[in-house]
Amino acid sequence: MTTEEKNKFEFVANVDDFEEEEMQEFTVGSEKIIVCLVEGDFFAISGICSHAYAEMINGDLDEYYVTCPLHFSECDIRNGCPLDPPATDPLKTFDVLVEDNKVYVSPKERTENDR
Ligand code: FES
Repeated sequence: MTTEEKNKFEFVANVDDFEEEEMQEFTVGSEKIIVCLVEGDFFAISGICSHAYAEMINGDLDEYYVTCPLHFSECDIRNGCPLDPPATDPLKTFDVLVEDNKVYVSPKERTENDR
C-alpha cells in the first residue's frame, strides 16, 4: 500500500475499544460503516443493508455472519455476500488498517476484485 493510499484511511477507534465479536458503528467519509472484530481480525461493512433501509448495527453478529434486523438475511462480513434471501446484493465492504493499536477504515468501497 502506498503512503498516498494509506493517508486516505480514517481513524475510528483503538483496538482495545473492541471486544471479540463486537460491532461498532462509525461515520467514515459519507458512509455509515460497521466495524467488527472476529477471531482477532477487523472487518468493515456498510451500516445499511443492501436490501432495504435497515441499520445493521441493530442486527446480530455471530462469528463471521451478520443478520439483518429487518428481514433477517445473513451476510458474510468478510466479503459482504448474502447467504440467504431476501437480500441478493452484497453489503458494501471497506478495507481496514490496524497500526500502532489503532483501527483505520478506508471510506472507499472495496471493489469486486478486492473480494
Ligand atoms: S432490509 Fe435487510 S434483509 Fe431486508
